[in-house]
Formats: sequence, C-alpha cells, structure tokens
Amino acid sequence: MFVREGEGEPEKIGSMPGVYRHSLGDLVEKCRRLSDQGIPGVALFPVTDAALKDPTGREALNENCLVLRAVRALKAAVPRLLLFTDLALDPYTSHGHDGVLTADGADVDNDRTVSVLAKMAILHGGSGADFVAPSDMMDGRVASIRLALDEAQLTGTGILAYAAKFASAYYGPFREAVGSAYAAGTRSLDKRTYQLNPANRREAIQDALLDEEEGADILMVKPAGAYLDVISELRRETLLPLAAYQVSGEYAQIHAAARLGWLDYIRTRDESLLAIRRAGADMILTYFAEEIADRRSEAPLKDA
Ligand code: PBG
Repeated sequence: MFVREGEGEPEKIGSMPGVYRHSLGDLVEKCRRLSDQGIPGVALFPVTDAALKDPTGREALNENCLVLRAVRALKAAVPRLLLFTDLALDPYTSHGHDGVLTADGADVDNDRTVSVLAKMAILHGGSGADFVAPSDMMDGRVASIRLALDEAQLTGTGILAYAAKFASAYYGPFREAVGSAYAAGTRSLDKRTYQLNPANRREAIQDALLDEEEGADILMVKPAGAYLDVISELRRETLLPLAAYQVSGEYAQIHAAARLGWLDYIRTRDESLLAIRRAGADMILTYFAEEIADRRSEAPLKDA
C-alpha cells in the first residue's frame, strides 16, 4: 500500500492499474475493508514530499514522518491487520538510493546506512509495526536491527528480511509510485553494488542464509516470478517461513499484455501466483491481493 500526504481521493499510478497512492484517512478505510476480506497484512510504502528529501534521508528518522503516522492510525483502527514497514532510505533520499552515500558519492556507505536502519527499526517497532522489513540489502543489517530492537525492549517486533533481493528491472513501476526514480531524474537507478546479481544463484542462497543466522524471522525472495529456482532452493535450505514478493513489474506486465488483448488476464494472474506457491513460498506479497481475496472480482479492477 502506498501512502501519501494530504486528503482526498486515491491517486492513480500510471504503470500499476488498480493500485493507488492513498491519503491517510483513505488508507485506513481501505485497510479495514482488506482485513474484512481476509487479507492478513499489508506492507506500507510512503510517498515522501520532494521538499523533505535530502542526500542523507533525514526524514526517515522523523518520529512524525508519514509512514509512522500511518502505522499508528492503522494499529488503532484495524488492530488485527499485520503491518510490515520497509527499512531502506530510498523514499527519503534525494538520489533515490537505499542508503547514505560514501564521501565520493560513488557507492552506498554500508555501515553508516546500517546504523540509520537500526534507529528506524526502533521508531517503526515502537509505533506499532508488527514486522520491520529491511529491503536495503546492506551487509549485517539484520543483526544490527535485531540488537537495536531488543535493546529497546521491542522483542516482539519481527524481521521480514528481503533476504534475496536482486538488482532487477522489474522494480520500475514501484519507483514511479514512490517517486524514488523521479527524485534521481532517471527511471533506471543502478543498485548493483548492493542488490544481488541476477545471474548468481549461489550468492543469493548464501546471502539469504546469513539473514537467517543474524536473526530474521521470515526470509523473502524478490522478485518472485523470474526467481522461482531461488525460492525452491531456499525452501529446502531453511526452516523459516519463506515469503516471495511478486513485484510491481510482474504486476504491470500482466496488466499491459491483457490490455492489448494478448493474454487472458485472470488466467495469467492466477498462474503467476500458483507458480510462486508451487516453488515453495509460504506467503506472497502481491499487488493482486485484493482481487485474489475477493474471488467475486473476476475482471481487472475497474479503472484498469
Ligand atoms: C526499495 C524497495 C523497492 C521495492 C520495494 N522496496 C525498489 C528498489 O529496490 O528500488 C520494489 C517493489 C516493487 O517493485 O514492487 N527499498
């Protein structure tokens, strides 16, 4: 779920038909309905005003930032809905990267970023997030986040680790939705120094198992559809619950082909999810969730 400042109607996202940027009030009402439909949890992504972005992503540590206001409002209104909040700096940095940069600006500074993420985790957990979800891919962040949460007495806040997150072209529509690509003036942010190489399967498994050792409660593979082999191998390597994130580009491509009349929307959608389940995912993050939970909806959402 994307949340924005202000009031009023949900805002459409061009490349993600049926997905919106919600104002706070509207988000709460929407989440109440989703929970009634049987959706167990939502992942929250803030659309930060450009004026609040800076190279260090300072807004991430503002205890009244948008995503924390959303967490508090949702926990009060729909307590049974699980809230997953992203730990990464891309919604807050003017360059759109997931962390703070090194002095020469050539790369993300791993350790400085990890210390900011640990502080973010305390703010998120303290505000009521059930799980924090580090999506940044810095080394050692799960251990630091777990330690910080425990020291803050937030022992019940879980960690959903983006354990195998690849440097993928499939994140394009998401970057439009949160404005991270726009902030950097490009549609193709290069995150290859910290996200995984799509060609390297063993590195992905190794990286995911490190997150388990460091204290993750759930491991996640992302994207899902193009990485079914990684899901299935990781399913055999870990006893933790395994999640898969069917990302924005996977969603967009099915909608686009269906609009052109080239693919059958419902059958392609369902097959894409079935395949992720078959590969071994115990849970799926997907922009199709509302439609799937509401089996009566047998057509793309209205404005599609
Ligand atoms: C960033 C983040 C991204 C997504 C979730 N968290 C994009 C990126 O790494 O640039 C992508 C999700 C999607 O494409 O649906 N920390």
